[in-house]
Amino acid sequence: MGVMREFNRDQLGFIERAQREYGDVVWMRFLYVPVLFLYHPDDVGYVLTTNPKNFIKSMSLRSNFFQRLVGNGLLTSQGEEWKRQRRLSQPAFHRERVASYANVMVDYTNRLTSKWQQGETRDIHTAMMRLTLEIVVRCLFSADVSHDVDSVGATLKELVRPFASQATLAWILNNRLPTPAHLRFHRLARKIDNVVYRIISERRASGRDEGDLLSMLLAARDEDGSQMNDRQLRDEVMTLFLAGHETTALTLAWSWYLLGTNPEAEKKFHAELDELLGDRKPTAADLPRLKYTEQIAKESLRLYPPAYGLGREAIDDCEIGGYQIRAGTQVFMFQWATQRDPRFYDQPEEFRPERWTEDFIERLPKYAYFPFGGGPRACIGASFAMMEIILCLAAIGQQFRLELVPDHPVTIYPAMSLRPRDGIKVIVCRR
Ligand code: HEM
Repeated sequence: MGVMREFNRDQLGFIERAQREYGDVVWMRFLYVPVLFLYHPDDVGYVLTTNPKNFIKSMSLRSNFFQRLVGNGLLTSQGEEWKRQRRLSQPAFHRERVASYANVMVDYTNRLTSKWQQGETRDIHTAMMRLTLEIVVRCLFSADVSHDVDSVGATLKELVRPFASQATLAWILNNRLPTPAHLRFHRLARKIDNVVYRIISERRASGRDEGDLLSMLLAARDEDGSQMNDRQLRDEVMTLFLAGHETTALTLAWSWYLLGTNPEAEKKFHAELDELLGDRKPTAADLPRLKYTEQIAKESLRLYPPAYGLGREAIDDCEIGGYQIRAGTQVFMFQWATQRDPRFYDQPEEFRPERWTEDFIERLPKYAYFPFGGGPRACIGASFAMMEIILCLAAIGQQFRLELVPDHPVTIYPAMSLRPRDGIKVIVCRR
């Protein structure tokens, strides 16, 4: 079994222990698969930016589980196909384009909070998932999914379960066995498929050019003049549908949790909003001045990185951190560990938004902080996400204080992303 059982039992604890006991480069086996954990920013940088050509996405991302969910979309594709897809999607993420999404972000946030009542209890994780799904679908596909968000959220919660409990065995055996869990997984995945196929078919039927990412994908042609078929389109749309909302929702949810447990930071946050915005709606133009809100987002992404690990597979033998690494080795790097490393962060376990000064950022080794990955495969939606997080925090924080429900346990559930196991319950207080 190698260390597989131990890893599956407590992923985050195992990741921390391995570094504590063995250092920055740790070699192990999951069943018969050679696996390397890297903790030092220089080694992370080597894999992501110095020699990225020698690495493809890891076995786990190529497994049937993942393939079934996002197929061969931008997150999972490789080589020339990935290059073409990335080029095609890039315009939707250019700076001016992203700025034009600000209104949607704030309007949808206000639409959500208009239903909130003073003193009521809400699960802020569920609320943020709903919000960010509606936002990304509106911005990139000009569609409305307000009727689907609850069922998509519930389905997704079930879907990620196998990623937590039997993650490594599932990707090694590649989930070929038709077990009940497997069949259930496919049934759930079909539910989300239906929503995505509906978005595509409605656009095809309308024939309208909305000038959005979906229209660009529909109009795209290969060198031989052929267009994307429904399956390819589905994979692209599904990738953005999933990658574009879960991570952002988690950052928002963890930010509310961190503010709820740090009253001093919460006070400073409210003071910034009162001073800069008052009752006025935040816009893209406010972003450079919402400095403390941005620091909150950065610090939340440091302590609770939604993508808590990245995986690659070495194509050829290479040398990392002074060790010879064989082709086929699965290489993992963990934001969870490196971003809490006391060599790079004072009081690493503490929530201290103030640490993110210009000077600190300049001194920090590049890959001591990589919530959005890095190199050619870095997150395409990073600036979209940062803007969304800051604007949503601001639009909610200027009206409400979210008080944590005292006896509700908040624990981490690492399943594909870093989720709160039983949500985050808050009491809505009008400011
Ligand atoms: C806080 C929010 C987010 C976090 C923490 C995050 C994190 C990441 C990370 C770490 C990667 C690199 C994966 C790897 O190297 O294997 C990635 C890739 C990607 N992300 Fe994000 N992401 C966020 C938001 C978004 C948003 C809003 C979108 C789209 C609207 C998005 C779309 C993608 C896509 C398509 C890729 C694959 C890019 C490629 O391989 O070319 N992400 N993300």
